[in-house]
Amino acid sequence: MCSVVGYNGSGPCRQQILEGLARLEYRGYDSAGFACITTASKLHCVKAQGGIDQLRAKIKMAQDDGIDGAIGLGHTRWSTHGSSSENNAHPHVDCRRTVAVVHNGIIENFAFLKEKLQLLGHTFVSQTDTEVIAHLFEDELQTKSLERAVLAVVSGIQGAYALLVMSEKHSDYLVAIRKSSPLCLGILPDQTFVASDVAAFIDKTDEVVFLPDESFALISKTGYAVYNFFGERIYPPVEKTVCTWSAEGKGAYEHYMLKEMYEQKRAIIDTINFLRLHKSTRMQQLNLSADMIHDLERIHFIGCGTSWHAGMIAEYFMQEVAHLQTQSFLASEFRYKKFFSCSRTLTCIISQSGETADSLEALRLLLASKQPTIALTNVASSSMVREADGFLLTQAGQEIAVASTKAFTAQISALFLLAHWIAHIKGLVTTQAMARAEEELFVAAEVLENSIERYKFDIISKRAPFYARYKNFIFLGRHISFPCALEAALKLKEIAYIFVDTYPAGELKHGPLALIDAQTPVVIFSCLDEVVYKKLYGNAQEVKARSGHLIVFAFEHQQELLALADTAFVFPKVNPLLAPVVMIGLIQFFVYQIALVLDRPIDRPRNLAKSVTVE
Ligand code: M6R
Repeated sequence: MCSVVGYNGSGPCRQQILEGLARLEYRGYDSAGFACITTASKLHCVKAQGGIDQLRAKIKMAQDDGIDGAIGLGHTRWSTHGSSSENNAHPHVDCRRTVAVVHNGIIENFAFLKEKLQLLGHTFVSQTDTEVIAHLFEDELQTKSLERAVLAVVSGIQGAYALLVMSEKHSDYLVAIRKSSPLCLGILPDQTFVASDVAAFIDKTDEVVFLPDESFALISKTGYAVYNFFGERIYPPVEKTVCTWSAEGKGAYEHYMLKEMYEQKRAIIDTINFLRLHKSTRMQQLNLSADMIHDLERIHFIGCGTSWHAGMIAEYFMQEVAHLQTQSFLASEFRYKKFFSCSRTLTCIISQSGETADSLEALRLLLASKQPTIALTNVASSSMVREADGFLLTQAGQEIAVASTKAFTAQISALFLLAHWIAHIKGLVTTQAMARAEEELFVAAEVLENSIERYKFDIISKRAPFYARYKNFIFLGRHISFPCALEAALKLKEIAYIFVDTYPAGELKHGPLALIDAQTPVVIFSCLDEVVYKKLYGNAQEVKARSGHLIVFAFEHQQELLALADTAFVFPKVNPLLAPVVMIGLIQFFVYQIALVLDRPIDRPRNLAKSVTVE
């Protein structure tokens, strides 16, 4: 979840690296660092707690302003081993300060290696797993060529890593090493960039080499050579890549999250239009033949966080529209469960970033057992798009706030359409019904935005200041509104740091009812299925009978439920399967305003990062 950026070429590197790092801060922002080899072949390193702004300030403060070079590397960190501090910030150096290393990933056997290196006399200054790499290179470079030293180091380390290494001894070279964690080179005639994500250098070049798994590159000023972990030269293709990076900024919005919430209608419309207009490309990208679809018995969804919730909602689409047995899995659980291969099960990995480590590893597991897979992601240049059998792209545009908003509603829209395409091929829905589905999505997008507008003033002036005082909440949903409740709760925890317990409402009387009191507001998310609605109404009565404070998100005709509410948010009736889409915008806004009252760092909540590229 950290990011690495490196440069070797004709120009000075510092500006290029700092710019690249600033674009990758979404991957981690608790500390940052930069190192370069100066023209006098001296290694120089600056680190700071905080993000790139703090690093820039530190460079100025330390009067290191003049420090630059043709070769350098940088890092933004999301702590795994050791707290967020300057000491634990990357780059890490060896005892002699002649080798510098930055790392994204986890070295699993670092404790063993550290002990061994300490016995050999190495001194460690950080609590990180990464520092062992600098010391390992220190030793190996005494006797070996650069290439041999890399092979020796990788043979001794276990885990996942994207590493950049440079040393005074081989001051013309930058080394990029990849196992599991993504790493790519940006190619220009007289300079080479290397980074965790193409966004770091996409304004300079769109010619990219994605380093294959278990490979490394020796990058010189004039080019690069790639080798596998057996030391054999390999030639990964140079690809033209697309990247959705935009330097647009927040505009008039106070936070990216607010901007992105308001971009949801556009994200849904763009996703529908893109998938409709590029029908033949879309089918090619999905890589699903009509025969395969006719043979399909099941569809599985795998994801983490918000993407997992999108999969849980899509279960209802697949069951009700495409008549397919469906199940959703959390990627981190799926990886360690027994699963049964079946060519008639299609698995859809859902991930906004397309880089989430648990989801990516689940995908790889399925690919290894020849299970058909598709990736649903928002990033066309992501690892998942490259690795899955087929893919489906949402058009949410770049999402910067850590809390996922528009990516989520775009995922749901794409999954709703996917269910209809499958159903159409199976002969379950007509062409007209498919067109209607698109229309219903447009309507849902409209309602989502209108609902925010309708309650905006009430939430800002009254509801958010009132509810920001509560320490705990209980969120309830049933049927398709249960995953919606889970998603809403995730937002409240993530950006407002308020504890929420979420249940399918039917579970209330099996234990959680004991928690109901006036101090713990209960939020009920209604749904449009008539039978389920009646049950939810019953659950709301159970809460009121125990003096619970009730907040209700419900539909216009659901008067009995609305009448029980202490606070009610009302929505017009839409396609019942799209109820989560219309409700989620308003709850995001509500939660956002609570976080604002509590003065939280909304776009970058504590302890989190946008892209979780470690397990
Ligand atoms: O990029 P992904 O969709 O794979 O990310 C999965 C989760 O890390 C992500 O949805 C996370 O839960 C969000 N920060 C929630 O707002």
